[in-house]
This record gives sequence, structure tokens and C-alpha cells, in this order.
Amino acid sequence: MPDTTTSIRHDPSASTESFREDVLSGLRGSPRSLPCKHFYDQRGSALFERICKLDEYYLTRTELAIMRRYAPEMGAQIGEGVMLVEYGSGSSIKTRLLLDELINPVAYAPVDISRDHLAMVARILRRDYPSIEILPVAADFTSEFRLPEPKRDYTHAAVFFPGSTIGNFEPRDAQLLLANIARLCGEGGGLLIGIDLDKDPRILELAYDDPAGITAQFNLNLLHRIRNELDADVDIEGFKHVACYNQTRSRMEIFLQSLCDQQIVIDGESFKFTPGEMIHTEYSHKYTIEGFAEIAAAAGLTLRKSWTDEKGYFAVLHFAMLQQV
Ligand code: AVI
Repeated sequence: MPDTTTSIRHDPSASTESFREDVLSGLRGSPRSLPCKHFYDQRGSALFERICKLDEYYLTRTELAIMRRYAPEMGAQIGEGVMLVEYGSGSSIKTRLLLDELINPVAYAPVDISRDHLAMVARILRRDYPSIEILPVAADFTSEFRLPEPKRDYTHAAVFFPGSTIGNFEPRDAQLLLANIARLCGEGGGLLIGIDLDKDPRILELAYDDPAGITAQFNLNLLHRIRNELDADVDIEGFKHVACYNQTRSRMEIFLQSLCDQQIVIDGESFKFTPGEMIHTEYSHKYTIEGFAEIAAAAGLTLRKSWTDEKGYFAVLHFAMLQQV
């Protein structure tokens, strides 16, 4: 099975129209912005896979190293008889590391927007884990969805949310997503989540602005999509990738910056840019374990255990859902 490092995929059912609406409303806004969920068309996902392998982008390999080392502890911590619900495809090595260590797991439910990808993952996991019921859920995990019903009784549900994708949500939205997880799992439920930890801004800025320019291509890919899919008039060379660490807000802030006086024209509507003007495209929040535990506590989740690497770059946290909020 391929090790797809990312759990983020393009929604093939998302129409060009909803992309057009998001782009137009983002460019009409002040400050201008484009939603980061639109990074992940086929080319964007392939570029993200390349980012995950870069020396400067420590996140993927650090989380994987933590999982390799501590998966047996994580399995024991999650507890016996679980239905594991993964936010993402279930096609990564991390999924298998965890499935291998769970104690008598009843079911595994990957939640992903791509039906085709889920079908492929389910087929392979059914072959490799015949004692676990594999129950794919085709849904967007940022919207409400129902848990599948396994044939056997399970003791509790636990969500696995690796990759530090939670960092791409603003803290208020992150808290809402965590509250949804708490509601979904109910009392006795759990959450195993990967978060990127706050660190030296120089390390962060290199991770998000690598010398080979892969992250720049990933960011600029939004303009390729706008030109190709919306038939827009846009000079891609007229923009550059900018990634800065905002220390006050503990987040990487990613922008496309205009290099000159220019305009983007979509459906006859013109968006003028002056030199230096920015389009915001992504936030990637960096947390302390305590800070993230506070946000999770407000969503009804109690920190039970944390695992980190030697440098303290990344953490995998286990939360228990003790009371409904
Ligand atoms: C998907 N997500 C966790 C990545 C991150 O690190 O915030 C997306 C990314 N953006 C630029 N590089 C990687």
C-alpha cells in the first residue's frame, strides 16, 4: 500500500462554481484572502507530498518517528474494544502503526471526502486487517456526520487526527471542530491528535519557505487554478510566495504578494493590486501542549497523555471525553 503522507485530498465533487464563489468573495474582501482548502487539487496534493519529504519540513517525519516509537503506548492508552475514526484517508503508515497496536479493536472508520480513495483504502485494509470491521465514511469532517454502526458492540469511539491539520484552523474554529469530535464520540470517547509545537521562528520560516521553492509552487498553485479553472486573466509571475511567523499569534502566515501594479480579471470583474499588496492564503498555528490542552478543555476534552520527540518539535496528544459540553 502506498504511504501517502498527507490526509488531505481534493474534493472531486466540489464544483468549479463553489471554487469561483470562494475566489470572488476572497478577492472582494479586505484584506484579500483565498481559502487554504483550495490548495489541494491534483497538482497541489502532489506538491504537498513533496513538501512532506523536504529536509526543512520536519513535521511529517517527526510525527512519524513519534508514532513509530510510542504506538504501543498509544494503543494501550486508547483502550480495548474501540471503534477508531480517522479524520483523513487511512492510507498512511501512521494508521497502520496504530491499528497494529490497538487492543481488540472492533472497527476502523476513515472519514474522507474522496469516495474513490476511500474505496481503495477499505479494500486494502479489509485484506490486511480481517478481524477489524472497516467502515469508510464519505464526508467532510468539518461538517457534522454520523458514526457508522459496526456489527459488533464497541466499548467507545476514538478519533485519530494526525498531521497537525488542526493548525490550519483559526483557534475558534479549532475549538468548534474539537467540540464536534467530543459530541461525536460522546462520554468515554477519546481523541489522538498531532500538533506542531511552537519553536524558533527561523526553523518555522524555513519549513514554510524552503530553498527549493516547493512551498512557493504549492502556494502559487492557487493562481494556476484560478487561471485554468476560472479562465481568469492572471500573471502568475507577478506574485511571490511570502511566509512569516507571527510571534504574537504563534502562527505561520502565508501570503501571495503582488510584485507590481497589476490586475486579476475574472468574468469581466477586475481586481487591482499595488506593489507589495498581499492575498492571505493560509495560517498554520503552532501550539504549546498546555495551550492546546486549554482549547481542548473548553471543548470538553481532558488531556490524558502526550508524546513528543527529543527536540520538542511536535506532539501527539491523547484526550478523553469526560463530560458533554
Ligand atoms: C496540511 N498542513 C498541516 C500543512 C501545514 O504545515 O500547515 C500545510 C502546509 N502549508 C505549507 N506547507 C505545508
